[in-house]
Amino acid sequence: MSVNRCVCHHRTFAELKDLAKTNGWTSVAQISLDTSCGLGCGSCRPYLQAMLDTGATTFAIAEPGQKPKPTTPEPWEVPS
Ligand code: FES
Repeated sequence: MSVNRCVCHHRTFAELKDLAKTNGWTSVAQISLDTSCGLGCGSCRPYLQAMLDTGATTFAIAEPGQKPKPTTPEPWEVPS
């Protein structure tokens, strides 16, 4: 199982990465202001930061206190 979206606001990281590129967003705060991603439960915030840092859009579930690490999505986890 991997993490590839903001569950609260139904946006994939692939979609958010494209939006960030189009709009010039370079911080999680900028993503949150326009999409509300990161402002619900907040569990996607470290993954959003990792997306900005690495360009990856799929991550292994991070242990508490650890940075999310990019991973390859399983075929059934490819964002739609
Ligand atoms: S998963 Fe993004 S705010 Fe909850």
